[in-house]
Parts: sequence; structure tokens; C-alpha cells
Amino acid sequence: MKKVYLAMSADIIHHGHINVIAEARKLGDVTVGILTDEVIATYKRLPVVDFEQRKKIVENLKGVSRVVAQDTLDYVPNLMKLKPDYVVHGDDWKTGVQQEIREKVIEALKEWGGELVEVEYTKGVSVSMLEQALQDVGTTPQLRINRLRKLLDVKPVVRVMEAHNGLTGLIVEKLKVSQGDMVKQFDGMWVSSLCDSTVKGKPDIELVDSSSRLNTINDILEVTTKPIIMDGDTGGQVEHFAYLVKSLERLGVSAVIIEDKIGLKKNSLFGTEVEQQQDSIENFCQKITRGKQAQVAEDFMVIARIESLILKAGVEDALQRARAYLKAGADGIMIHSKEKEPDEIFEFCREYRKFNKKAALVAVPTTYNLVKESELAEAGVNIVIYANHLLRSAYPAMVNTARCILENERACESEDYCMPIKDILHLIPGGS
Ligand code: SPV
Ligand code: MG
Repeated sequence: MKKVYLAMSADIIHHGHINVIAEARKLGDVTVGILTDEVIATYKRLPVVDFEQRKKIVENLKGVSRVVAQDTLDYVPNLMKLKPDYVVHGDDWKTGVQQEIREKVIEALKEWGGELVEVEYTKGVSVSMLEQALQDVGTTPQLRINRLRKLLDVKPVVRVMEAHNGLTGLIVEKLKVSQGDMVKQFDGMWVSSLCDSTVKGKPDIELVDSSSRLNTINDILEVTTKPIIMDGDTGGQVEHFAYLVKSLERLGVSAVIIEDKIGLKKNSLFGTEVEQQQDSIENFCQKITRGKQAQVAEDFMVIARIESLILKAGVEDALQRARAYLKAGADGIMIHSKEKEPDEIFEFCREYRKFNKKAALVAVPTTYNLVKESELAEAGVNIVIYANHLLRSAYPAMVNTARCILENERACESEDYCMPIKDILHLIPGGS
């Protein structure tokens, strides 16, 4: 029997897959390479169905003899191992992002006289429509909470963008950028205290109360499916924090990050310009422990944010706190800095990863913005938060438009800065 290889992610199985497998079966004994969760998550998005389940499903499809893992987008490593007589694929990959992968397959097969067989792409299958349909179904609080942990398991770095209302939530949910064979997107949303306060015209001093913060989160939850990390400020009183954890968990928020400050909280980016006081290790540990005790299911995360670098207390102090906070039950650490250079951050990360290999490490590169995600990931960071960028870019655009109308005493000139009316009418489906 000839050996036949085909690869798929098999996350959403449709009749196109069945057709390709049937064609492959006509040529010989079929081995299917299933893309691992890591590959799919890195190049596209977190799979809906995880690897073990996808493997089981495909193993049970008619015509499939065996399933192996394919842990790169590139087929070549598996082809070298299996040396198949045929590779089968739909003919849709001749153009577009998979073109390069196809070339490599053809090159590799030449080595042992193998052949690429391309079957006609099954008409009527639109993966993007199927994905949209899945998104329209939505998610449940439990599924959404768990998604952050899943992402942490399979991605070198989880990319999180600020959202402060339903509309910005939709941007984070939907925006995709194709680069080479990768489709890049944000993995989740950060509900920043700075942005949530600023959009309400209020200072970032824990003045916006938790009912209002939860309302904002609810607006985002209603129209998105990606995981949410809440900026919980100081977490408030220990007793209040326990209630906040329960509320967030009930809603489907994946994590809360609380910072080790007491008194009137000011935004960290003021640094030592304003009066800010760090909490004692003992008090803050108590808060973490109470928060963890309050949660009902396993997946919710309490992440402890260390302000030592902000308050010029040094890396040693930050490390001592990290050890204590993890011991008190924190699921991860956020290390913050307002320096332009990331040296202290990198030093902290190196030392942190010496005593803890697993617990999530969060960085917020607002001021040290030259650093690439890959450099942070290499240093041991696994969640990168862009904490305020949608609001900071929206505000100047709005002021510009308002100024233009004032100057011209009419709106005509401002149209250049505005999206067309017909576009805004269709931006959110279901309005017509
Ligand atoms: C926020 O986004 O509200 C934060 C991050 O807490 S920072 O503004 O950098 O303090
Ligand atoms: Mg904040």
C-alpha cells in the first residue's frame, strides 16, 4: 500500500475535510497530521477543540488509518519522518498565505520521488463563515474564564489589549492582521482603571466604584468571547476584595490584577512625582489569600502587581514580594515599571524565572515601548498588556474633529476625519 499524508487543524470539521480524506484514501494508507494547539494558537487563534479531542475525532473518521501530531506549520519535519508517496491537499493553497508551505512540500517530496496531489477545493465551504457562526453563538462564563489558562499553556506570549467599552471590546475581539503565514490578533482584553476612569471624565484614584467598573465589563462581555483581565486597582479592603472576586468569577472574567499600594491610589505612571505608598508584604499577602479563598472554581486567577520599581524600591524588594505573594496564593505576578529602558524589568524576569518556572508573569510595556513581545517572552514574560492605547489614540482624534468644526463653523471640513455615515450604520450588524 502506498503511504499518503495530509495535514489539517480539524478544529471545525466540515465536508471539505471528508472529501479530501476520501480522495487520499483512494491513493493508499492515510496518515493525518493534526496541528497541535501550540501551532494553531501561535499562527491563528486558540482552537475551539483541544488537540487530544481533535485527534480522537479524526482517528474515527472513515478512511483515516492513523493520526500524528504536526507541531509546526511546515510539513517538512513530518514528511522527513514518514517519507509518504503522496501528500494530499485542497488546491486552494496555491495562492495566499500557504503558498510558501506548499513550495516546501514539493521540494521535500522530490527527495524520494513523492508526489503532491491537489484535490479541487470543496465548493460551499467557508471557514470564516463557520467561525463567525461560532462567534455569534457566544461563550459561557466558565469557558471564557478557562480560555486565559489555555492560552498561557499553548502560547509563548499572550497579547492583551485595553478595552473600555463594547466598541473597543469589538476591536480587540475582531481585528486580524495577516503577515506571511500568520494571522495575528489580540488574545484578550485588559479593563484598565486609567481608561475606565478617563472615559468617565474622572481621575484614576479608585473613584469609579466597583459597580460602575462591573458595568463596563458587562458591556464588553455582552459582545465578545475573548478572556478579560480586570485591573482591580488595590483590590480595596480585604473583605471587599473577596466579594469582587466572586462577582468577577460569576461574570466570566478570567483574572484580576491587584496592586500592592495603600491609601489614595494614584496611577503608577506618575511614579514618585506624587505621594504613593506601597502596602506591607503581610497585609497584601492577606488580601491575596482572602481573594483566592473566595473563588469558587479553579480557573479564575488572582495576579499580584508589584509596584517596587515604580516607587524606586528596587529589584530586590520586588523579588522578595514576588516570592511572598506567590506563597500567599497568587496565580501570577505583574511587574510594573515606568522607565524608558527595560533593564530592571529584564533583571526582575531573569531572577523570577530562577525560582518560579510556571506562574504567569505580566508586563505592561507602556514606557519601555521599543521592546518587542518576543524579547519579553524570551525573558520569561507570558502576558503582555497594551494598557491604554485605544483610548490614547481615540482622544486626540476626537479633539481634532471638534476643533475643526469650531474653526469652520460647519461640519463639512471635519468629514475628512470621520468614517462615512453608511459605514457606521453597518459597523454593528443587526441595526437595519
Ligand atoms: C491601568 O491601565 O490603569 C494600569 C496600568 O493600572 S498603568 O496605567 O500603567 O498604571
Ligand atoms: Mg490601573
